[in-house]
Amino acid sequence: KSRTVLLATEKAFAADAVSKIEAVTSAAGYKLVRLENYKSKDDLLKAVADADAMIIRSDKVDQAVLDKAAKLKIVVRAGAGYDNIDLKATEGKGVVSMNTPGQNANAVAELVFGMMITSARNNYDGTSGFELVNRSIAFYGFGAVARAVHKLAQRFGMKSFAYDPYIPAEKIAEMGATPVATVAGLFEHQYVSLHVPLTDETKASINKALLMKMPKGGTLINTARCEVVHEADMVEVFKARQDFCYLCDVAPDDKAAKEAMTAAVGDKFGKRLIFTAKKMGAQTLEANDNCGVAAANQIVAFFEKGETRFALKA
Ligand code: 3PG
Repeated sequence: KSRTVLLATEKAFAADAVSKIEAVTSAAGYKLVRLENYKSKDDLLKAVADADAMIIRSDKVDQAVLDKAAKLKIVVRAGAGYDNIDLKATEGKGVVSMNTPGQNANAVAELVFGMMITSARNNYDGTSGFELVNRSIAFYGFGAVARAVHKLAQRFGMKSFAYDPYIPAEKIAEMGATPVATVAGLFEHQYVSLHVPLTDETKASINKALLMKMPKGGTLINTARCEVVHEADMVEVFKARQDFCYLCDVAPDDKAAKEAMTAAVGDKFGKRLIFTAKKMGAQTLEANDNCGVAAANQIVAFFEKGETRFALKA
């Protein structure tokens, strides 16, 4: 049976990755419809009407989208975090949701090091910085992305620590990181890197009390979701501590919050505070290929073989 797969990406994949996705869908006899770099939700609402399947990135799939998606059977988030899919709504409509865990982990890990080095070298302004060797990095969450960062950290001669409520301490130790018993325990280390999903439990959980515990030169790295950080607290911490740094690939959408943080840091932008222009941890050719092709393969396997290995639950 012929199927239509909608590639709906507000932030487009590399062209080469899209060709590879299309090779997978056309080999299965499916049609790929592209809605890339779209500017309004209306475009998505129109395009979804004919779709049997959808490949998305951070694009929101909510009740409004589902109401227009008469034929939709499956949506695959080409990436890790799926807080942009309303899983109660998809389940309510009998639409299967999946992600592609691990496929963009290395891209994010490399960006973490890019931001750490930029900060440690004072944004290359000619003044004396410091090296990462022998420094400590603590991971909140120890899934695929954190593990990829940890592997690079080992090669940099750094010491790794980790807390993950869903992974036993022995497993963390087996992977070469020192297990930490509590979230607060992570903040005794110079670098804390966030790798938790956005949930009710993690929302605004990184607050002033935790950040003020960090040692001299304490640096928070956020390649997870901006909402995990308590933004008003972050502004206060910047004011209270001249040594504190925030390296962030997930800047607040809210312009005022972003401006408040920038103002609190003063003229040290690029040393103490790094924001990427747009979330770009997963924005590499390789990650686009890996996530996009995995998503296309998962859609074909779902329709042809009933495969649901990566199905998500509300
Ligand atoms: C993820 O959860 O996989 C990342 O946040 C990537 O998101 P993006 O596909 O919008 O770049």
